[in-house]
Amino acid sequence: MLDPSRRTLALNDERTWFQRAVFYEVYVRGFYDATGDGQGDIRGVTSKLDYLEWLGIDCLWLLPFYASPWKDGGYDVSDYYSVHPAYGSVTDIEELLNQAHLRGIRVIADLVLNHTSDQHPWFAESKMSRDNPKSDWYVWADDDGGYQSAPVIFIDSQSSNWTYCPDREQYYWHRFFNHQPDLNYENPDVQEAMLQVVRYWLGLGFDGFRLDAAAYLFQAEGTCCENLPATHTFLKRIRSVVDAEFPEAVLLAEVNQVPSEVVNYFGNGDECHMCYDFPLMPRLFLSVKTESALPTAEALRQTPDIPAGCQWGIFLRNHDELTLEMVTDQEREFLYSAFASDPISRRNVGIGRRLAPLIDNDRRVAELLHALILSLPGSPILYYGDEILMGDNIYLGDRDSVRTPMQWSPDRNGGFSRADPARLYSSPIIDPVYGYQVVNVESQMNNPSSFLRWTREMLSVRHRESVLGDGEFKLLSVDNDCVLAFARFLARDERVVLCVFNFASKVQPVSVNLSDWISRVPVELLGMTPFPVIEDDGAYRLTLAPYGFLWFELCVA
Ligand code: GLC
Repeated sequence: MLDPSRRTLALNDERTWFQRAVFYEVYVRGFYDATGDGQGDIRGVTSKLDYLEWLGIDCLWLLPFYASPWKDGGYDVSDYYSVHPAYGSVTDIEELLNQAHLRGIRVIADLVLNHTSDQHPWFAESKMSRDNPKSDWYVWADDDGGYQSAPVIFIDSQSSNWTYCPDREQYYWHRFFNHQPDLNYENPDVQEAMLQVVRYWLGLGFDGFRLDAAAYLFQAEGTCCENLPATHTFLKRIRSVVDAEFPEAVLLAEVNQVPSEVVNYFGNGDECHMCYDFPLMPRLFLSVKTESALPTAEALRQTPDIPAGCQWGIFLRNHDELTLEMVTDQEREFLYSAFASDPISRRNVGIGRRLAPLIDNDRRVAELLHALILSLPGSPILYYGDEILMGDNIYLGDRDSVRTPMQWSPDRNGGFSRADPARLYSSPIIDPVYGYQVVNVESQMNNPSSFLRWTREMLSVRHRESVLGDGEFKLLSVDNDCVLAFARFLARDERVVLCVFNFASKVQPVSVNLSDWISRVPVELLGMTPFPVIEDDGAYRLTLAPYGFLWFELCVA
């Protein structure tokens, strides 16, 4: 039996833990197969907690694990209260939560708010007639002419946001696949039903939710049906339940919108605690390809201030395509030609590739990009497998290209499963560059200079330097466009961390304006090596290796 008192020892109970946390996203189906049926499962995640603790992550984000026909990676939920049979049971979830908490690791679930599967009993009932008790739990109309200003999101497979239902002789509204009807949040019963789901899983011990597709909950004629005031009102309702009943839980909103809209999802500190920084992410890739810090610096300048107690979630890749919705048409064309010259790698408005293939497996670029998301304002969210620079399979359909089995060892099935290889939900990567024989956790754990060991070291520095999590941020002026420099510091605190990055493939000189910290001594944070003092003019000269970066603490001499 687990000792419940140890949880409070391992996890200090402050409300802003997420500001200093490193998140790790897990696609349960692809992580580890404990039952030997060829699919990853909840017990598989539990059995890998020691690894995640060793790596140094603070919070797991589990992709949807609910009962589902699995036509959209589990984002098509058919029962919010049960676990997909291939994943295990609610008891398995409880054990995962207990074991994670014992190790000081928090766990958040994916809450699919906007829609259900068309296999959900609510929809089965709703579609049967126009006057049954659930008839208006979904968004129905006599024709498909409404809300024409709302764009189609999954342009690869959907031509309309309306689909005809012969049973009801009406159309239903869906922002994603046509098997994912949108719930009708105008109906108070739907709001209550979802609040019960929130209470159930937080009551079981989850530490929060990623709120899937949070921008689309309401519709209004003549608008794009995104970011509507009623959507914010309902999200604030969720927040008030969380604050009153589960004050340590975090709400992380998936809103792929422009900065001026995303910032509204923080409310006045009374809506979501966190939002992904979608506008920043593609600019990091743009900076790498153009060898210029300017796109990243511009995105940072456009990033609005957020209320106290809130945090950005910053990421390089996730389980979806690398979305290019938040860039200009010109930037998108450039990014497509630079990162997806083979059209088969394109998905919807984006690119269906993992990090390593996107950057031609260049270890220096991987380090640069990780150092950025570990020090820019926000909490980093790592995608499973990126810590070993796993590859992808662009010939798999939709976003399955980036959801292949985690590569644990050079053994059969990459150590992911003991099943007959023919039974796996997806083949592991076997090519000579990214194949599991070469790219796997076991060999990288044993290799002191591996990317995995480097990542682990960086996470430990990030934890040591908590100012990288919750400090203020200031861009610094430099005399070289290839270079980005900024400081992280706490107001009224002596502690200042300086971060400098070279986006160029060639060595670069730079002078950084450090006039705020004259006479301090920069101490490099990975080797603790003191550098020359900052002289009176504050112009500090550095030389950066190709794709090099440096982190310093500016110590008072
Ligand atoms: C979110 C998820 C994506 C899913 C979609 C519909 O964007 O990240 O994987 O397909 O919502 O639920």
